[in-house]
Amino acid sequence: MTQTTSFPIFPHRHLLGIKGLTAHDLTTLIDRADANVAISRQLDKKKTSMRGRTQINLFFENSTRTQSSFELAGKRLGADVMNMAVSHSSVKKGETLIDTAMTLNAMHPDILVIRHKSGGAAALLAQKVSCSVVNAGDGAHEHPTQALLDALTIRRAKGRIDGLTVAICGDILHSRVARSNILSLNALGARVRAVAPTTLLPNEIDNMSVDVFTNMQEGIKDADVVMMLRLQRERMSGAFIPSVREYFRFFGLDKQKLGLAKKDCIVMHPGPINRGVEIASDIADGPQSVIHTQVEMGVAVRMAVIEALLDPRRSEGENQ
Ligand code: NCD
Repeated sequence: MTQTTSFPIFPHRHLLGIKGLTAHDLTTLIDRADANVAISRQLDKKKTSMRGRTQINLFFENSTRTQSSFELAGKRLGADVMNMAVSHSSVKKGETLIDTAMTLNAMHPDILVIRHKSGGAAALLAQKVSCSVVNAGDGAHEHPTQALLDALTIRRAKGRIDGLTVAICGDILHSRVARSNILSLNALGARVRAVAPTTLLPNEIDNMSVDVFTNMQEGIKDADVVMMLRLQRERMSGAFIPSVREYFRFFGLDKQKLGLAKKDCIVMHPGPINRGVEIASDIADGPQSVIHTQVEMGVAVRMAVIEALLDPRRSEGENQ
């Protein structure tokens, strides 16, 4: 199992967010993930590093790509993977998050991957269970593996992250993807811009080390990377935008607006995309789009995270 010895030890037991991680921590995970990309491209997509380990995916929110990505990642490492969707569980019968987690914990999983509608759910779980916990998205708080896969995608496309201008555009207010990306891209030396109408910017945006733009044209001018976010209408109560058509006109990424960014600018989106709402179809499917690469990198990143957290070189004493 050479893969466990060639990378630095990741000094954390859980991955609850990007907050608190150093650039070195992030690079350790991204390097590990980079080395895993080739595995998914092989005919035999299987490693054995996690053979005998049990991974439970506990998804309290609907998810297609994140859940399948974690599932494939675990399976490609040789782990036994179980998916628990909330609609199949006793939570529907009134059991709490903690009760469910403690029940699963009694089955001795090695790693629990959780997605939940409330910010802080993953951290709460981590205090209660005896295994490693990975946050696969908690409310509008963090989505660390998405930020890692985005960093890997950018690094492979551009050869670096340091010094790049990255414009994160759209519904930043409701976006855990934006929060995790702002933290990770800043730590890795990018210049980060937050581009959104004022109604879709969080109050604390001025303390997030970003340049704020409420005009999309100005916000994406000369950018190396444009990261579009989905308009999260399910998290909105009341009207944050006048209409979808207005929104697309001012904040949707189309050919004309993208023309203001650098010629070799890449276009990203965590998915699922709303065509014609935040991004035009021809841009999503166009030559500058790396949206499918992001999905590919997602599996490699999740494999890396699982391996790093369950690294056999880490003694219990080092856990934190
Ligand atoms: C994101 C999420 O769930 O936070 N999607 C994802 O992880 N694939 C972004 C979104 O839902 O818009």
